Amino acid sequence: MHNLSIPNDYSLAQKGIAVMTGTFYVIGVGPGDPELITLKAVNRLRRAQVHYVPASRLSCQSWLTEVVARYAAVGSKVREVEFSLGSDATKRQEHWRQVAAEIITEIRCGKRVAFATLGDPLLYSTSIYLLRALQQQWQNLPVEIVPGISACSHVAALTEFAIGCGEQPVTILPTVMDKAALESALKRGGTLILMKIGKRLPRILALLKQFDLLEKAVFVARAGLPQQRIETDLKRLQGADAATGNLAVILVDANRENKP
Ligand SMILES: C[S@@+](CC[C@H](N)C(=O)[O-])C[C@H]1O[C@@H](n2cnc3c(N)ncnc32)[C@H](O)[C@@H]1O
Repeated sequence: MHNLSIPNDYSLAQKGIAVMTGTFYVIGVGPGDPELITLKAVNRLRRAQVHYVPASRLSCQSWLTEVVARYAAVGSKVREVEFSLGSDATKRQEHWRQVAAEIITEIRCGKRVAFATLGDPLLYSTSIYLLRALQQQWQNLPVEIVPGISACSHVAALTEFAIGCGEQPVTILPTVMDKAALESALKRGGTLILMKIGKRLPRILALLKQFDLLEKAVFVARAGLPQQRIETDLKRLQGADAATGNLAVILVDANRENKP
């Protein structure tokens, strides 16, 4: 029996065999407004030969498909990656492992592979799971991460809401569900950024009401996208339908002066 070993880049290079290794680009394309994408993101989208685009039932993902279609080089390939994978952690891990293995094959063939993601790639993004899966299989993966404008920055700008001022802390809470989590964040003072709101919106509104914060908060859904909704008085959201909290951010500052 023979021991077969797959030659790695280093052993091939030692034998003088040219090694082609591509790069993986993780590209933050901003929150949705077509003008809020960086030049670097555009350049990397143009440079990539293969694009992986997260696909989901949520309509926001059509922005990712559109942005890739707008900037991808002619002849580059576009592949959709499913990422609404339910709550089974093992299945999710196996899914990312398979996608990672496919991407690694492309990179080892010398391809420049891109993964476009909403907002910033290292803030509550799918790209974090994918990066972990890739680096588990290839520790020194050649990767370039392109930061993007996060949704919370766009929401702050649209509502003229200062996120961080002076020495005030900023707390980001994804999916606030209970009173204790909100209470302990409020005790810290400063600003709260609530993300991944979705169907929890009524619960969050009820909690904000309990703390008398409905007038100290702003809400923006689908910032920079069609059907953008901005509310600077959260009382107007009471009784809103189940989809209202999708792709939305709430900013809260207990010490905010009410606007005249
Ligand atoms: C999976 S996280 C991705 C965050 C993203 N990486 C970022 O930097 O903004 C998805 C959450 O981001 C927020 N979000 C993303 N895009 C948004 C937009 N255009 N308008 C409002 N909220 C948005 C929502 O809270 C949504 O539930």
